[in-house]
Amino acid sequence: MAHVKASWARTYDPLIGAAERQRISGAKHVPALFEAEYGSDGGFGYVAVTPEGQIVGHVGGQLMPERVAFVDRLHVLPDWHGSAVALRLVEAVVAGQARRADTVELTVLVNNARAIGFYDKAGFVLAGEPQPREGLAGISALRMRLAMK
Ligand SMILES: CC(C)(COP(=O)(O)OP(=O)(O)OC[C@H]1O[C@@H](n2cnc3c(N)ncnc32)[C@H](O)[C@@H]1OP(=O)(O)O)[C@@H](O)C(=O)NCCC(=O)NCCS
Repeated sequence: MAHVKASWARTYDPLIGAAERQRISGAKHVPALFEAEYGSDGGFGYVAVTPEGQIVGHVGGQLMPERVAFVDRLHVLPDWHGSAVALRLVEAVVAGQARRADTVELTVLVNNARAIGFYDKAGFVLAGEPQPREGLAGISALRMRLAMK
């Protein structure tokens, strides 16, 4: 939880402003919501851990209709950006959800250039036009999709 909140602050303050980030993160990132999400049948989550036991990355989401594994969050600590950690987390979703899903989907703000660069490299493709409805603070989001098989 603390990792996700800190990563949100680092990532989204420059993209949507601190006030809006605080408002959204304060409502979204609360233990009860995380527990309900991960405790539900459709919830999934994976962490990347060093041999010393430090959590350096996290991916989580939920199954949606039509066998879609929807990724709500993917965060890697800055010291581990540019390593293979983010890719390993996507691979964990693919391997872990293959029985229940055919595609991985997510939304990413149009101005989150690093994340878009990563998803592109990981094999995600655009799924439709940028959607203001799926964005934050008036900034549109792209929906991206990865075929699992
Ligand atoms: C998104 C995230 C998981 C990606 O992991 P990462 O380790 O940083 O990704 P990588 O470095 O492997 O790949 C990013 C690619 O985008 C490129 N890139 C980096 N900054 C960029 C920029 N400003 N504009 C365009 N491309 C950029 C990189 O060059 C890299 O490609 P390369 O391997 O060819 O050099 C990580 O940056 C993160 O945790 N960010 C904060 C949280 C976040 O934004 N999550 C996604 C929410 S949808």
